[in-house]
Amino acid sequence: MTARTPEEILAGMDLPEKIAQLQILWRRDESEAMQLARDGIGALFWPQSAARTNALQRAAVEESRHGIPLLIGLDVVHGQFTIFPTPLAQAASFDPDVAVSDARVSAREARSSGVNWTFSPMVDVTRDPRWGRVVEGFGEDPLVAATFGAAKVRGYQGDDLSAPDAVAACLKHFVAYGAAEGGRDYNTTDMSRQRLREVYLEPFRAGVAAGAASVMAAFNALNGTPMHAHRRLLTDVLKSEYGFGGVVVGDAEGVAQLVPHGVAADEAAAIARSLNAGLDVVMGGATLPGGADLLAGTGLSPARVDDAVLRILRLKRDLGLFENPYVDESAEATGPSEAALAAACAAAERCIVLLKDDAGTLPLDPAPRRVLLAGPFAAGTDHLGAWVQHFAAGAGTLHDALRVRFPDTAWTAGPEMDALSPSAAAIDRVAALAGDHDLVVLAVGEPSALSGEAASRSDLRLPGDQERLIHAIADTGVPFVVLLATGRPLVVEDWIDRAPTVALTWHLGSRGPEAIARVLAGDVDAGGRVPMAFPRAVGQIPVHHDALPTGRPARTGGTLGAPRADVGLAGPDNLDDTYTSKYLDLPLGPRFAFGHGLSYTRFALTDVAADTDALDLAALGRGAGVRVRVGVRNVGDRDGDDVVFVYVRRRTASISRPAQSLAAFARIAVPAGAEREVALDVPGDRLGWYDDDEVFVLEPGELELVVTDGADTRILPLRLTD
Ligand code: BGC
Repeated sequence: MTARTPEEILAGMDLPEKIAQLQILWRRDESEAMQLARDGIGALFWPQSAARTNALQRAAVEESRHGIPLLIGLDVVHGQFTIFPTPLAQAASFDPDVAVSDARVSAREARSSGVNWTFSPMVDVTRDPRWGRVVEGFGEDPLVAATFGAAKVRGYQGDDLSAPDAVAACLKHFVAYGAAEGGRDYNTTDMSRQRLREVYLEPFRAGVAAGAASVMAAFNALNGTPMHAHRRLLTDVLKSEYGFGGVVVGDAEGVAQLVPHGVAADEAAAIARSLNAGLDVVMGGATLPGGADLLAGTGLSPARVDDAVLRILRLKRDLGLFENPYVDESAEATGPSEAALAAACAAAERCIVLLKDDAGTLPLDPAPRRVLLAGPFAAGTDHLGAWVQHFAAGAGTLHDALRVRFPDTAWTAGPEMDALSPSAAAIDRVAALAGDHDLVVLAVGEPSALSGEAASRSDLRLPGDQERLIHAIADTGVPFVVLLATGRPLVVEDWIDRAPTVALTWHLGSRGPEAIARVLAGDVDAGGRVPMAFPRAVGQIPVHHDALPTGRPARTGGTLGAPRADVGLAGPDNLDDTYTSKYLDLPLGPRFAFGHGLSYTRFALTDVAADTDALDLAALGRGAGVRVRVGVRNVGDRDGDDVVFVYVRRRTASISRPAQSLAAFARIAVPAGAEREVALDVPGDRLGWYDDDEVFVLEPGELELVVTDGADTRILPLRLTD
């Protein structure tokens, strides 16, 4: 028998059957889930085993009228069983292969137990660390988010969605959710079309080009229209302009939330409005199989319903579900394999960022010494990060990992400490113990539960009294290292100048402690870089690297005691650097900017050259670009990893352009004393911009390509000609 095509199946369906395909539901009750499958529901959340998934698929295939298999969805965000570093930490690796490795392992583990659709990657650009969901994305830069998002899509989906180790990816949240006002989750967003295109849409454009099978609508309203009802963006931009042929799914109850958003009178109106706007699958809400009547008289477009059903059926076809809806229960992964854990450890090592090391304390001396390990993350196991499920493979403790890696060190464990409320007695005890040791390692930070969804914070300092712990150790005069676990950039101003050595260790997953131990030992370089700025104060947010210039740039930071003079009488130039863009109570710029990160060795850029210094716009329009070759010499005595960035700088154009915008990046391993060459491609679309009419513009003019690894910088001129 030849397989039925999606079009043939659609032709035999009535409206209630079509509507049933357009929904994904959570159902903990097994018999209710089975009934939904028999009733022809399109998708369900994962029932937590291969056997239960197969039972649901059997009900759908053998007992529903059209025998259509189910999409089985789950958020596999940075691991199913084997947990990789959080996505923001992955971005710090500046190595997209880290994201690919996570996604391959995740897809294999998830699909083996029946999941065929993951709600990942999150490609929201994030510039406000108050928003807890910054942990789920790839930071402040659109190119980094686009590159890592596309890498994750390729990793999840592989070359063939029907393979037993592939799952359908989902780019989320479309769009501008990362710009929620005030960093408060689920809040509204408002921005120019120019910024929307250049910053927030870019990663979606790249993810669609990488073949993402689905896209999730965002909770926020954008410029007054909730995204679940945003026809222009869902249909005109995403589907028509980007050519997205996959499935647009709503976020959890996001369709029903059009009612509290105030754009639909009731749930039926909300469903009709969303589907008409271009949504294909409703997540949660009313149970539609028996409820198609609900939609009578709502103006729901029958053609739109058909299109949505076809998109879903085609995805099921591409996943191979019509040929084989079942998974091999004997091959089900129920936990991590050693190979997967090794991959997670290798990934985690690449994400650690050496923020400062004034005293050259790292890597740690392996010689016999007495080291005190203290702080809430010393003996705790909170290393997995936000967005993991209860069955994820837990991590061990830092204390155990360090004891194994440094067998000659006499490790003393400090008192137990709660990250949210370390007791004064515990802090005093650590300070009292410090004097008997050669070194103190303080593992401080933000618990996993403080970042992720619905986890916005207004105060970004270390929680609890952890700052006091750092001061107490600094007061003892004993050398110390701070390991900073966090889901987001924190405000570290209170203590950073007192801590000579600080490594950013994020939440690194199931093998986080082992990875930290290996980096502390210098088995690998601490080669990560900051993917999202650490602000000096919450009041400075947003503070990202590609801000637009102002007419009054500041040369120095502010001071509260600055002399004031009457600008109206004497003009703005009457006092040097007073009437300039800054805060009176802050130095300029963030504490740690995008791209910051040290290494255990030192690098020098050697030959830096572009393959051309002039390009004509017609060639750019046909896809030409510039290739920059960079020689990187390791002038230190340890093997290490350098990260090279190419920024575009354009001083004059028809619209104001950022002082720098990232055009390419590459991480490169260079053995001690050796030199390696890396080629970075700057495509034409990094040399132009979208205007506020959303038209992509390439203008003739003079540009500079700024090639830098943070320590060494070269400038290459580039002329764009008519
Ligand atoms: C989140 C999504 C997630 C969905 C399903 C929502 O609350 O915003 O990112 O995919 O839940 O779990």
